[in-house]
Amino acid sequence: ANTPIYDFVIVGGGTSGLVVANRLSENKDITVAVIEAGDSVFSNPNVTNVNGYGRAFGTNIDWAYPTEPQIYAGGGRQIMRAGKAIGGTSTINGMAYTRAQDVQIDAWEQVGNDGWNWKSLFPYFTKSEEFQIPTRNQISRGADYYITYHGENGNLKVGWPSLITNRTLLPLLDQTFNQLGVPFNRDVNGGRMVGLTSHPDTVDSTENIREDAARAYYWPYQNRSNLKILTNTFANKIIWSNDTRSEATAVGVEVKNSRGVQTIYASKEVILAAGAVKSPAILELSGVGNPDILRKYNITVKVNIPTVGENLQDQTNNGINYQGLEFWLGSPTFSVLPSANQLYGSNVSNVAAYVKSSMTEYAKVVANSSNGAVSEANILEAFQVQHDLIFKSQVPYAEIVLLPILDSFSVEYWPLLPFARGNVHIKSADPSATPAINPNFFQFSQDLDAQVDVAKFIRKAFSTNPLNDLVGDEFAPGLDNLPNDAPASEWNDWVKSNYRTNYHPVGTASMLPREKGGVVSSTLKVYGTKNVRVVDASIIPFQVCGHLTATIYAVAEKVSDAIKNRYRI
Ligand code: FDA
Repeated sequence: ANTPIYDFVIVGGGTSGLVVANRLSENKDITVAVIEAGDSVFSNPNVTNVNGYGRAFGTNIDWAYPTEPQIYAGGGRQIMRAGKAIGGTSTINGMAYTRAQDVQIDAWEQVGNDGWNWKSLFPYFTKSEEFQIPTRNQISRGADYYITYHGENGNLKVGWPSLITNRTLLPLLDQTFNQLGVPFNRDVNGGRMVGLTSHPDTVDSTENIREDAARAYYWPYQNRSNLKILTNTFANKIIWSNDTRSEATAVGVEVKNSRGVQTIYASKEVILAAGAVKSPAILELSGVGNPDILRKYNITVKVNIPTVGENLQDQTNNGINYQGLEFWLGSPTFSVLPSANQLYGSNVSNVAAYVKSSMTEYAKVVANSSNGAVSEANILEAFQVQHDLIFKSQVPYAEIVLLPILDSFSVEYWPLLPFARGNVHIKSADPSATPAINPNFFQFSQDLDAQVDVAKFIRKAFSTNPLNDLVGDEFAPGLDNLPNDAPASEWNDWVKSNYRTNYHPVGTASMLPREKGGVVSSTLKVYGTKNVRVVDASIIPFQVCGHLTATIYAVAEKVSDAIKNRYRI
């Protein structure tokens, strides 16, 4: 049989992978193969329907990875959702388009990632974006923007769903949150995220359908003869050249599909874009990782990087539900992003001091639960960065998503920067086995406290007029079940029995200097390899306050330029 060979082989045709595939195949002399376990969802209504959030969950396009039992959170498992389709998780997500706070991206550079700061990433946010100016009707319902923050010529349609929730709502929210010290933020995407905002979505505003990575970066380009996507094809591992040069050289990827097992060869690079759960697992299956873990499964160590799979950061999501007194039609787009000052008021310095005094202990715990991979000093430095972001820079502390739908008014919320650090590691040499995913939710009391403190803030907002006038009883958890003055143990029990993952895993192949525990360099190349990169959510070293796709698209655009420069293509 003839053995196919491409310049670049990309593992994962998801959010990040399709950006890189698109950009590299702009040059028709360059051949690109994308290996994707899923299939087309172009006309799957569970994907396209802008009000269909959740309908794809549990279907065959949801990986639905079970986590390990969460020992700090009552012992249960969580389901980590992720899309299995051309377009990846962007085909099943909540579609919110929010970037990050500027200083969070600047922090990437401060810890040693040359060239990564808000200013240098900003042109890539706009390069990826096709901002759709809201209509008068959308503006009357709260859509707002500064055009200088947006790109109008990119691939990804960003805008508002055609029908936003009733026009009466925003002024009432604004009056309410102003009394709590949270101002209106006209446009959350300029690097300043704090406030009440009507965020845009990844949506085609004209067609009123979901805009996913495939619609943006693949379908309009599917006829490029130099771009090949292999669907229903599972990547097992990287295949290395036999030479014994100091850097490991990938020659291709072993894949499995209905035709059996074969190798797809790459003459230039293998690029991992399988997401924050799978990319570190593929590295381990390929011999890149912690020797102690690899040896357990008789995998030959190709590159010793003990931190592969460590530094997993996700958030915890919880909800409060009210009866609505009004009837709400349309798609809700309002979020509240309070800073620590706004949330804690005069108590903020106590909270900051408590967290600061706990961080040395937190660092010890993380180091001890990292299979010997994470050093206390490195994680303590990361915690200091995080403490500064929260308490000095006052990045948003939590996101509170307001969901007035028909006759109910629900809230989903998550503290944005928990201190828990977990990991993802293979638990078998069989590539088809789900790795052990252990986010360590509520590893630290501060993470639990934050969850409770934000819930109390939400209750305060909903008992403040005019918002209070719009709702009836809180039916979950309900004041009878969980009074405001319930003891901490009852609040904690409620949090642990009701939370879910926020589906924002990052950090498992962190971009950091190698001596600081990094897995990839500032060009997203895996240390110790000549030609393997990771380009997905795994490389984000510190959790961001935006939803992830906006940042992932920008990172993928930026690394595409770096790769093109490297090969002068
Ligand atoms: P992504 O998961 O997109 O791509 C990985 C691809 O690799 C997939 O297509 C997968 O099938 C494939 N793959 C994996 N293993 C493979 C293997 N071995 N062989 C071949 N292919 C393989 N973000 C946001 O901005 N706004 C939001 O509202 C939300 N809401 C939200 C809700 C839910 C339910 C989820 C699960 C997530 C979100 N997010 C979100 C997060 C966001 O969608 C997510 O972080 C990114 O889409 C991840 O992009 P990646 O490129 O990292 O992986």
